[in-house]
Formats: sequence, C-alpha cells, structure tokens
Amino acid sequence: MLVRTVIGLVTVLALAAAGWLGKSWYDSRLPATYSALEFGPVEYGGGPVQNHSGHPHVSVARLKGPQGKAKYRVTLVAKTAEVALGSGRIIDAWTFNGQIPGPELRVRHGDLVEATLINDDIDEGVTIHWHGVDVPNAEDGVAGITQDAVMPGERYTYRFRAEQLGTFWYHSHQVSSKQVRRGLYGAFVILPRKTPLGALDLTTIAHDFAGITALGTGDAIQRRDVAPGTPVRLRLVNSNSSPERFLLTGTPFRVVAIDGTDLNGPTPIEGRMLELGGGARYDVSFVMPEAGVRLGVEGSSTALVLGQEEIAAPETSLGEKFDPADYGRPKPTVLGTGTRFDRTFVLDIGKRIGFLHGRPGYHWAVNGKLHPNTPMYMVRRGDRVRMRIVNDTGTVHPMHLHGHHVLVLSRNGKRTTGSPWWVDTLDVLPDEEYEVAFRADNPGIWMDHCHNLPHARDGLTLHVAYEGVSTPFRLGDGPGNHPE
Ligand code: C2O
Ligand code: CU
Repeated sequence: MLVRTVIGLVTVLALAAAGWLGKSWYDSRLPATYSALEFGPVEYGGGPVQNHSGHPHVSVARLKGPQGKAKYRVTLVAKTAEVALGSGRIIDAWTFNGQIPGPELRVRHGDLVEATLINDDIDEGVTIHWHGVDVPNAEDGVAGITQDAVMPGERYTYRFRAEQLGTFWYHSHQVSSKQVRRGLYGAFVILPRKTPLGALDLTTIAHDFAGITALGTGDAIQRRDVAPGTPVRLRLVNSNSSPERFLLTGTPFRVVAIDGTDLNGPTPIEGRMLELGGGARYDVSFVMPEAGVRLGVEGSSTALVLGQEEIAAPETSLGEKFDPADYGRPKPTVLGTGTRFDRTFVLDIGKRIGFLHGRPGYHWAVNGKLHPNTPMYMVRRGDRVRMRIVNDTGTVHPMHLHGHHVLVLSRNGKRTTGSPWWVDTLDVLPDEEYEVAFRADNPGIWMDHCHNLPHARDGLTLHVAYEGVSTPFRLGDGPGNHPE
C-alpha cells in the first residue's frame, strides 16, 4: 500500500515537472510573426505610466527624415562579391558596391543625406543602420521594427540630416550577426563645414576575416607617405563583436573624439593602448613627426605605417590602457550633476538556465529574464533618463542604444572626472557596473542590445520605446525580419 502511494506520488511529481518543462519550452518559442511591442515586462523606471487614452499613436513609419533636396546622395548596392585582401587572400563576401568595407561616406555637417539601398542578390534581405547617427526612427534601418528587410530586387531610401559631427559607421541590421561579419558595413564620417587644408584625415576599420584582423582589407603592412609637420586625424572603428586593441607608436597623440563626440581638453598621451569595444570609434590626432608612425592591432600582423622611416612593431606589452573616465577636462552638460532624473532603469546582464526560443541551455538574461521577456523601457519625450548597466557575467558586453548618445556618469560607483564622455556603444567589462544618462529627445522604438552581435542574436536584446509610438512592422519567420 505504502509502496503504491509512493510510486503514485513520484509519478504525479514527474508528470508535473515534465508538464512545467514542456510549458516553459512551449512559451519560449517565438511565434512566426510578432511585434517588438508584444513582449517583455514593460518598465516605467519610476516615471509616469503610459496613458493610452490621452496619447494618439504615431507609427514609426511616419517618423521620417526631412523632405527637400538632398545635398549628399549615394546608392549602396548590396551584393555578393569576391574581395581580395592585401595579402592576396580571396574572401567570399557580402558587400556594398562590391567592396569591403563598403564605400566610405563623407558628408558635411548639416547636409541632408539621401542614401538609396538596392539589394541585388542577398537572399535573406538587407537593411542599413546608421550606427551612432541619431537619425529619425524610420531611418534607423532595423528589420521588423522600423522597416521590412529589403529583398533582392527591392530598394529603400534613407533620408536624414547630418546633425552630429564625427566618426560613425553603417551596417546591415538584418541577420546582423552574420551580415556584418561577412562584409555589409562601411564608414560614415560627418565633417565640419570647413576642414583645414593640407591635413590628413583617414578612417580605418578593424575587421576580423575568419580569425585574422585586418585594417580595411589590409591584412599585411600598409604604407603611406606623409610629410613631417602634417596634422593627422585617424578615425579608428571596430566593426567586430570582440574588443580590438590598437597601439599607435612613434608619436604622442590625443584622443580627440569617442563615438562621434569631441572630447573636451584632450591632453597628449604616449604609449597607451586603445581598446575599442565592438562597434566603438576613437578619433586620434597628432602632428606627423620626422620619423615614422605605426598603428598596429594586437594579435595581428596588420599595421598602418605612416612616413618613410621603418618603424618596428613594439616588441612586448601594449602599454597601459587608455581610460576615458578621467581624460580631458570636465565641462557642463545637459545631464550634469544635480540633474533630476524622470526615470531610472536597471539593465542587469546575467546568465540563466532555461529555454531560449525553444532551445534549452545556459543563456544570456536581462534582469533574470530570457529574450523575448527582456524589458521594454518606456519613456516620454523630454525625459531625463538614467540607466544602471550591471554586468554579472564573465564576458564583455558592448551595449549599444540606438537613436541616442548616453553620457557616462560613473563606473563601479566612481564618478567620471574627465571630459564629458558620450557614447553610443559602451564596452561593459566582466563584473563592471556603469551609470549612464540620456535625454529622451528622439521618439521611436529603439533597439538597445549587445554589439557582440552573436550575443544579441542569443537574447541580449531589449528596447527603449516612447509613449504613443507603435510599429506596423513585424518580426519573425513569417515576415522574414530578423534584426539580430
Ligand atoms: Cu551597430 Cu543595433 O547596431
Ligand atoms: Cu554581449
């Protein structure tokens, strides 16, 4: 009798556990079509809760760039191509206009930019996201949120005014974890209306080609003759998912901008290693010395050598890491000390056992939840928003918020003391904690994700949404939109 009761009890428990597992699995699967707004615990960060009645909905599709005659026009054709690296190695690539990186777009401050994307033969579709450019939402290029993926034979036109200044990049935001790696990216530079004559202004993108980091397509030494005395600005971009370490030797230099924002009062430094997280940009400047200058990348034999003189790779350590937290001079900002914040959000990155999109495993989690149950942070136009980003994992996460630049307030509880440090992509190292702030001044539905793009695909994706904004676009296999 007792034995039968125990067996019965065990059976009931086992069935309950199986049922619970089955339900967790079932609930974690993504539907064939769904809206970014349908999931996730909605959070208000201590600010007013959304009032549906008072706010007419505006569709992201209507949040477009200005009309009128474009000052800068370009056509970018996404297509498969074979591309030769400097060493002669051939890459079977996905490209814009047959090149890797895609053409470097250099526009002037204030220009109305019109970029037409044509998809020639990328079967799963493409988009263009203007990384770091705080464009109107409809121009943001996120498949399934701000537009549908552009399929072969189709086209899409982006229009926005270049209101910032500095170094940005563009890349596809459809299946981005694969498409960026395969070559669908390029540099986007916004220059001041007047630039000094005789200066050298050069962009270089570090990209990983199957384990070998190249600068542009240079996987070997690239040389360029530069006359001593020439003012030089190098725009460094990391298009990879992992951090890249640059070392500039042969001259003192200044870090003059980060993520497209000039730093205030940058001082000369020398022999400091520059570590750029995935998606980040640093601009450095110096005056060309008599002897050569060398820009190298750790773990790669690629280098850019300026000037005629032979300059050897530094033999040992890369030197102390440059830290923006105490570099340059402070100056007042719109979000400086004493700011009263309207909302405060917590973004705690961890790992959790569970089902992610139907797959069992140990997955990335935000605030203890797996995608698509990662938070939707709701804001209202005009809000001053504070966000605490906590990394409770042993892995680096370059967190990227679309449509806004965030001001770094503190790291590990210590306030930043240098120049205002604005970023669009913040490399959050293992066990670090940052406090950042932004002004909600660009209505829309914006991705906020890890720019280690496979991490984003594997669940490190959430959104910031403005009150009253809706989207007609849908994610999933049905519509074929997969931004990650
Ligand atoms: Cu560089 Cu969401 O992207
Ligand atoms: Cu990550």
